Amino acid sequence: MPTIAVIPGDGIGKEVMPFGVQAVDVAARRHGLDVEFDHFDFASAEYYQEHGRMLPEDWKTVLGSYDAILFGAVGCPAVVPDHVSLWGSLLQFRRHFDQYVNLRPCRILPGITSPLRDKGPGDVDFLVVRENTEGEYSNSGGIMFEGTQREFAMQETVMTRVGVDRVMEYAFDQAMKRRRKVTSATKSNGISITMPYWDRRFSAAAVRHPEVETDQFHIDILTAHFVQHPEWFDVVVASNLFGDILSDLGPACTGTIGVAPSANINPTGEFPSLFEPVHGSAPDIAGQGIANPIGQIWSGAMMLDHLGAEDCGKEIEAAIESVLRAADTAVLTPDVGGTGNTETLGRAVIEALN
Ligand code: NAD
Ligand code: IPM
Ligand code: MN
Repeated sequence: MPTIAVIPGDGIGKEVMPFGVQAVDVAARRHGLDVEFDHFDFASAEYYQEHGRMLPEDWKTVLGSYDAILFGAVGCPAVVPDHVSLWGSLLQFRRHFDQYVNLRPCRILPGITSPLRDKGPGDVDFLVVRENTEGEYSNSGGIMFEGTQREFAMQETVMTRVGVDRVMEYAFDQAMKRRRKVTSATKSNGISITMPYWDRRFSAAAVRHPEVETDQFHIDILTAHFVQHPEWFDVVVASNLFGDILSDLGPACTGTIGVAPSANINPTGEFPSLFEPVHGSAPDIAGQGIANPIGQIWSGAMMLDHLGAEDCGKEIEAAIESVLRAADTAVLTPDVGGTGNTETLGRAVIEALN
C-alpha cells in the first residue's frame, strides 16, 4: 500500500489539492490499489506565522518515511518573503531528497486553444528535463560591505560533474522512449565558465547515445524557437534556472500554465519523489475558487506512474482529455476560456474517472 504525504501549501495550492488527492484515490481504487494519504499543514504561511519556521524540526524523518509527496504550491509574499518560504520548504525537499530531475511535460491538450497560431494537439509535445538540485540555485554567496558604498551581492553557480551528467543521462533515457531527440539549453557565449562546462558534458552524453539526435541553442533564441517552432522539440535538457523559465514558457505555449504538471524525481528510489503543478500559489486569484485544478491532477497521474501504477496514471490523463475535449464552457475554468471554476472542472474529471 503506497503512502503519500500531502502538502497543500498556500493560496490556490489548497484549492486544487483536494482534486489531485481524489483523482489519485479514485483511479487507484479502481485498480484495487489502496493508497494512504496523510495531510500536513506545514510549508505554509499559517504554519510560519505560528512557528516562526516553515517546517517542523523532524521533517526529514517524517517525509522521508513516505513513498511519495504530493505538493501544492508555496508562497505568500504578503506574510513571508518568497526566498524565505521557498528556501525553507520546497527547495529543501528537492535537495535533501536528492530529487535531481524535474520532469515537466508540455503538451497541447484537446479543447484548449494555444496562443500560437495554427498550433493544436500534437504540434506541441515535449518534455523539459530540468536539473533540480544545483546550478544557479546554489545558495552559495553573500552580501558584503553591507550598508557601505562598497556593498555588493554575489551568488555562485555550481555545476558538478556528477550533477550535470546524471540529469543528462536521464534526458537521453527519456528521449529513447520518445522521438529520440535531445536539445540542450545553453548560454556559453555569455556565461563563460559554467555554461561551456555544461556544453562539454552534453557532448560527452551525446557520444554515449549515438542513436539520439542532439542540438543546442542559447537560451535567448531558444525561448523564441519555443514560440515559433515548438514542433522542433522532443526532450529539452536545461540547468536549474533555464529549466525553470522554459517550463513556464512551454505550458504558456500550450494555452495555460494551469494544466502543467511536474515530477521532482529521485531516480535511485532512495528518497521519496515529489509531484506538484508547475504553477505557484497565485495570490492574484487565491480565494476565488477559479484556479485550474488540472496541473495538480496531472501531477497525481505522474505520481502514480512513478509508483509503478502506470495504468492508473493513464486513466487520469484520459479523463482529463475527455473532459477538455467536451469543451463545456460552464465546466472549464476562466484561464481556458470557461465560466466554471475549480469545483466544476475538478468534479468533471473525477466523474470521468468513475
Ligand atoms: P504563479 O504560477 O503563482 O501565477 C502566475 C500567473 O498564472 C497568475 O496570474 C496566476 O493567477 C496564474 N495561474 C497560476 N496557476 C493557475 C491555475 N492553476 N489556474 C489559473 N491560473 C493560474 O506565479 P507567481 O505569480 O510568479 O508566484 C506567486 C507565488 O507562488 C510566489 O510566492 C511564488 O514564489 C510562488 N511560486 C511557488 C511555486 C511552487 O510552489 N512550486 C511555483 C511558482 C511560484
Ligand atoms: C518552480 C518554482 C520554484 C523554482 C520557485 C517557487 C522557487 O518557480 O517550481 O518552478 O524556481 O524552482
Ligand atoms: Mn517556476
